[in-house]
Amino acid sequence: MASGQFTREEALLCQGCRHGCHVMLYADTKSRLWGRTPIRHIILMQMRYDGLLGFPGGLVDPKKETLEEGLSRELLEEVGVALPIYEEDHVVANYAPASCSKSLLMAHFYVKKLEEEQIREVERAAASTAADHGQEVLGMVRVPIHTMRTGAGLSYFLSHTFIGNARSQLVHTLLRLNMVTPEELHKALTHSLKEHT
Ligand code: GTP
Ligand code: MN
Ligand code: MN
Ligand code: MN
Ligand code: MN
Ligand code: MN
Repeated sequence: MASGQFTREEALLCQGCRHGCHVMLYADTKSRLWGRTPIRHIILMQMRYDGLLGFPGGLVDPKKETLEEGLSRELLEEVGVALPIYEEDHVVANYAPASCSKSLLMAHFYVKKLEEEQIREVERAAASTAADHGQEVLGMVRVPIHTMRTGAGLSYFLSHTFIGNARSQLVHTLLRLNMVTPEELHKALTHSLKEHT
C-alpha cells in the first residue's frame, strides 16, 4: 500500500484515533439515459446536513462494536436499510485531512456491490423511513459517470464540494472498478471546475 494508506488492521492499531466508516453502495444497470446512453452503474452518495457530498456511514467506536457492525448501524440510521457489511468490503483507510477537530480521524472506506433492485430499495427507504432523513442526511444522490462535451455529467458532479477525502475515494474507485476509463476520467477532471483530485 502507498504511504498514507492503511489496511483495516494497520488502521486499527491507531488507538488514539477516532474511526469513521463510509461505504460506496453501487449496482450495475442496463438502463439508459434518454433510452440511448447506457448508465452502466448506479452509484450512491448523499447530500449531508452540512451541504457537502459524502458517502453514507459514520463514526464507529471499535471498543463498542466492530467497524462493520458500526457501518451497518450507520446505514440503518442514514438510509433505513440494514445491510450486512463484511471485512472483505474494506478497501482502504486514510487519515482524514487535518481539520479543527480534536483528535485524529481514521477514515475507513468500503465498497459494496448490490443488485439494482436493492439499490432502488435503499433509495426508497432513505427518502422515507430512514431515521436521519431530513436531519443528518438530506437525500441520496446518484453519481453521473458520463461526461458530455459541455462538461455535463461526471465533470460537473466533481465540481461540487465533498466532505473529507470523499471526492478522491470516488475518483479512485471509479478507476479501480473500471467504471470510467483513465481517458474519460482525465476529460472529466479537465472540465471540472476544481483542479485537485
Ligand atoms: P454523527 O452521528 O453526527 O456523529 O455523524 P456520523 O456518525 O454519521 O459521522 P459522519 O458521517 O459525519 O462522519 C464522521 C466524519 O468522517 C466526518 O466529520 C468527516 O470528517 C468524515 N467523513 C464523513 N463522510 C465521509 C466520506 O464520505 N468520506 C470520508 N473520507 N470521510 C467522511
Ligand atoms: Mn427530461
Ligand atoms: Mn450518522
Ligand atoms: Mn454519517
Ligand atoms: Mn453516528
Ligand atoms: Mn447520528
